[in-house]
Amino acid sequence: MTHVRLSPADVAACRNPLAGALTLPPAAYTDPAVWEIERKRVLAASWTPLARVDQVPGAGDYVSADLAGEPVMVVRGEDGAVRVLSRVCRHRAALVADGAGCRRLFTCPYHAWSYDTAGALVRAPLMEGADGFDVAAHGLREIRSEIWEGFVMATLDADAPAFAPQVSGLADYFANYNLGGFVVARTLDYAHGWNWKVLAENFMEAYHHIAAHSKTLEPGYHARDSQVPDTDQPWSILHMPAADRDAPQPDVPGLEDWQVRDLIAAIAFPGLMLAMQGPFMAWYQMTPQAADRLDLKIHLCFPDWMQDLDDYAAIVDGAEAATRAIHAEDIAANDLVWAGLNAPLSRPGPLSPLEKSIWQMNQWWLSRMGL
Ligand code: FES
Ligand SMILES: [Fe+2]
Repeated sequence: MTHVRLSPADVAACRNPLAGALTLPPAAYTDPAVWEIERKRVLAASWTPLARVDQVPGAGDYVSADLAGEPVMVVRGEDGAVRVLSRVCRHRAALVADGAGCRRLFTCPYHAWSYDTAGALVRAPLMEGADGFDVAAHGLREIRSEIWEGFVMATLDADAPAFAPQVSGLADYFANYNLGGFVVARTLDYAHGWNWKVLAENFMEAYHHIAAHSKTLEPGYHARDSQVPDTDQPWSILHMPAADRDAPQPDVPGLEDWQVRDLIAAIAFPGLMLAMQGPFMAWYQMTPQAADRLDLKIHLCFPDWMQDLDDYAAIVDGAEAATRAIHAEDIAANDLVWAGLNAPLSRPGPLSPLEKSIWQMNQWWLSRMGL
């Protein structure tokens, strides 16, 4: 097993019970050697959300993504099935697609090999003289996938345990929300110069409301009130109760009052990140690119029935403005963290009890890293 360059003392400090636990050491975020191992053991071996099924509603609709370095696409086939296919051509490895769109055939731009919506190779021009060339054996590789609550989850690990049973507690918690009925209304694109765990940690604690969001989130959702339930499954939930428990709430089908009122952040490790506010879901789709770089798409999602509301466009506009404003505050905080993590004297710090989700993530991460 490859040696991970984190000291046993630092690992032990992370492994302490929360009240005495320290953060991961800076090298866990900044060291390219850690990243190389993490990419295999954590990112390639886990389940990653690549799209919502509503993003590929019709035959031939596809959305490109990157799965732990593998260029992939989520495609709805002519048969109606949603598949995750590698975008790497089986001839000489050119990428056959990019972005999103709708195609009946994926024709490679290099030598025009053409694949159908299920990934089968249907045309390979001028290959007649190639001995034993078998068209049927050269389809786009299919990546293992699973649909959970409308999310197309995928993994490069053929032996990974199925996703749904690992998040049964998360599904129970959100049962009223009918997550499977949400649709993507708008997507916000960001690129950030931090390790992906900096974003995940920022996403999963409300302690920073008192400073980073002192004028925006803290007045409505006090840091001190936030709670994180125990679980032995690989996910975490951050419940941020509204400060005003008596404010009148709109009636939202299926949801109890507190579910309309309160903010809830959730993560299925390592990268399915959801922020719920009643009938609004912000899905943070994170694509780690290197130790110090990630792409982020924030998908603003609403229950499908809301699309018929007269003021739907205004609701989506409002969600975008609020999401961008909060994220701008988080970007500022994460930039500061990243500068500090890269400083020569940077050392692990103590976690607040309010940062239980970070502690939960760290235990999982250390185990996946073999530490
Ligand atoms: S690389 Fe795709 S057809 Fe040659
Ligand atoms: Fe934040």
